[in-house]
Amino acid sequence: MRVVFLGAPGVGKGTQADRVVEAFKIAKISTGDLLRGAVRNQTKLGLEAKEYMDQGKLVPDSVVIGLVREKLNEAGCASGFVLDGFPRTTPQADELGQALGEKRMPLDRVVNFEVPREAIVRRLSGRRSCPKCQATFHVDFSPPKQDGVCDRCGELLVQRSDDRREAIETRLKVYEEQTALLIRYYEDKRLLTHLDASEAVDAVFAKLMKVLEPYRAT
Ligand code: AP5
Repeated sequence: MRVVFLGAPGVGKGTQADRVVEAFKIAKISTGDLLRGAVRNQTKLGLEAKEYMDQGKLVPDSVVIGLVREKLNEAGCASGFVLDGFPRTTPQADELGQALGEKRMPLDRVVNFEVPREAIVRRLSGRRSCPKCQATFHVDFSPPKQDGVCDRCGELLVQRSDDRREAIETRLKVYEEQTALLIRYYEDKRLLTHLDASEAVDAVFAKLMKVLEPYRAT
């Protein structure tokens, strides 16, 4: 199964991608996670990306496309993948189509997660992330068992630097200006499914499973 999760920051793409990866035993390609990894490791790419990410702006297409092409070539992606946070611009979507065409691995579905803006802001401002294993929590909706500590690996949780109010506003604006047009892009390709993702995590996952089940074997 090869799917793209599309939607504004904070709609729950990453949370659902983790569950889908577990349920379908496929790979997860999250450009946000890959970029944050590069920032942590202080690579040249990471240092360049950090400036954009902290402000809530998109990292240049050339950088992100290179990262995704590399990932798609890894053996783990042969049995399927979920792309979380990529593509985010029309050039990225075109490049993805080309890369998958070369591999004869077309996309099965693009799921567009929809959540009202006020709920998005609440989800992002309450998010806490594990800098070590990338697990994600929410102070109200999915708190860790021990306050401020990752359930999975015991690391201290942090608030992402782009989950501050000003950066959230920029990210939502950037989404409207540069990413929302991909809804039409994939509608035209008859690949898009809209998903109301405003309910609780389990309820959203149940609906998502119904959308993705037909592609389990592809
Ligand atoms: P990225 O990491 O991709 O961030 P994003 O798209 O802004 O998405 P988020 O991770 O913020 O949200 P999400 O939808 O995954 O929600 P989550 O599941 O975490 O990108 C970060 C930056 O990297 C970008 O700003 C850009 O600079 C750069 N970048 C990345 N990809 C790029 C690209 N392709 N091109 C250029 N630049 C790129 O959930 C959010 C919170 O809500 C959590 O606390 C969670 O616990 C909670 N939650 C989730 N679901 C529910 C629910 N159903 N009910 C209640 N709470 C919920």
